[in-house]
This record gives sequence, structure tokens and C-alpha cells, in this order.
Amino acid sequence: MANMLEEKRPIIALDFPGQEEAAAFLRHFPEEKLFVKVGMELFYQAGADFIRQLKDAGHSVFLDLKLHDIPNTVYRAMKVLAKLEVDMVNVHAAGGSEMMEAALQGLEEGRGAGRIRPAIIAVTQLTSTSEKQMKSEQLIDRSLNESVLHYAMLSKKAGLDGVVCSAREAGMIAKEAGEQFLRVTPGIRSAGNAADDQTRIVAPGEAKKAGSSLIVVGRPITRAKEPDLVYQKILREWEMGR
Ligand code: C5P
Repeated sequence: MANMLEEKRPIIALDFPGQEEAAAFLRHFPEEKLFVKVGMELFYQAGADFIRQLKDAGHSVFLDLKLHDIPNTVYRAMKVLAKLEVDMVNVHAAGGSEMMEAALQGLEEGRGAGRIRPAIIAVTQLTSTSEKQMKSEQLIDRSLNESVLHYAMLSKKAGLDGVVCSAREAGMIAKEAGEQFLRVTPGIRSAGNAADDQTRIVAPGEAKKAGSSLIVVGRPITRAKEPDLVYQKILREWEMGR
């Protein structure tokens, strides 16, 4: 996979309703090669062409589509996504180890000759899921942390490169799965940023100390008057670990 352990840039969540809005935002960064995350809303609207434009402009792309289906379907879908030459993709660990192995195989087979396979990470329990809900709706009679850790280890065994998780879970996962296993953490806010709808926010430097390998930041940058300045500030805080 692409060497994400060396990656220093915060991943900017391009949570825009459409391509025009996303392109307008990117004009704040005429020189900078960014690492952006494209989620379902923007991808379903703007599609593969927009991903190609981002790649042609030199940006790195995390395509956050959280695949979860039978192994064969995920295998075939990943083969297609690998052709887009994105840098990172993800699946739900709840799809099971066979599905995760199939996803990995799809990426390996779909990448062009000489191309690096996209990194693939898993969602464990969504951070919107409470322990109470997990117990009553998924009938998992364990703590939320145990379930997160279990899914992280299952992903690792299936050959995945890491997980999306809260910075508060990152240390525990690093300890069990090793430093090389990526912990990609959203819910990041610098001092003074609005929390928006995030309930358990962590500052960039704190996230690093807590064991995050990569941070995902959306609204503090995308809604800023001067996105480039906020981006640079977050980058510095993250790099310095404070
Ligand atoms: O705007 P904000 O910084 O809150 O955006 C965070 C991004 O990370 C959003 O795209 C959101 O969907 C995503 N995310 C999250 N929490 C998770 C998983 C993904 O906030 N547990």
C-alpha cells in the first residue's frame, strides 16, 4: 500500500453537496497538494470523473464509501475503485473477514501494473453507535471497547492496513495491533473551533499523543473564511503533537 505511516497531512473531509462547491473550496489551495476525503454524498453526486480530476490535480484521495456486502460484490466493487487510483478506501469490519479479504484481493487485482495498492481500513463500531444500542440492537453482550478492539484485530488478521476510530480508542488499538496498523481518527477540533455535531472532540496534538496515525478534519477547515490558514495551523499542531 501507499506509505501512510509517513503521511503528515491532515485529511480534509470534502463534505460538500456537489462538485462546484468542492472545486470552489479547493481554489483556496492553488499550490498545495492536499489529502482529501470524499464521502458518499459527494461521490454519489460527482462520481468517478471528479475523483479523476482530484488525482490529476495531484491530490491524494481517501474514498470513504464504507463498503459492506457479500464478499463477491465487495471484491468486484474494489476492483473498480482500484482503477480510480485512489489512495485509501474502507469497509465495515462487520461484513466479516471473508469480505475484508475479498476487498483486499479486489484492490490487488484492480490496480494497474506498477501501481501501489490503495490502503484499506475498516470501520469497527460507528462512533454514532452507543454501547446501549450495540447491546440492544446488535445483541453484542460486551463493552463497546471490546467490540471495537475485536473488529480491529479481525481487520488486521484479514490483512487490512488499519481502522477508522476515535482518537480515544487509538492507543488501545495501537497497543494490541501494533504501531504499523493505521488509526485514522475524525472528530478533531483545535481550541476555539466549533464542535458542530461532534460530541467527543480531540485537538490535533492530543490526537497524536493519544496514538492517531492520521487525522480527518472537515468543517473547521471547509467552513473557515480562510481555509488555508486554518489548515496550516492544524498541520502545525498535528506535527508538533500539541
Ligand atoms: O466536519 P468534521 O471535522 O466533523 O468531519 C469529520 C468527517 O469524518 C466527516 O466526513 C464525518 O462523516 C467523518 N467521520 C466522523 N466520525 C466517525 C467517522 C467518520 O466524524 N466516526
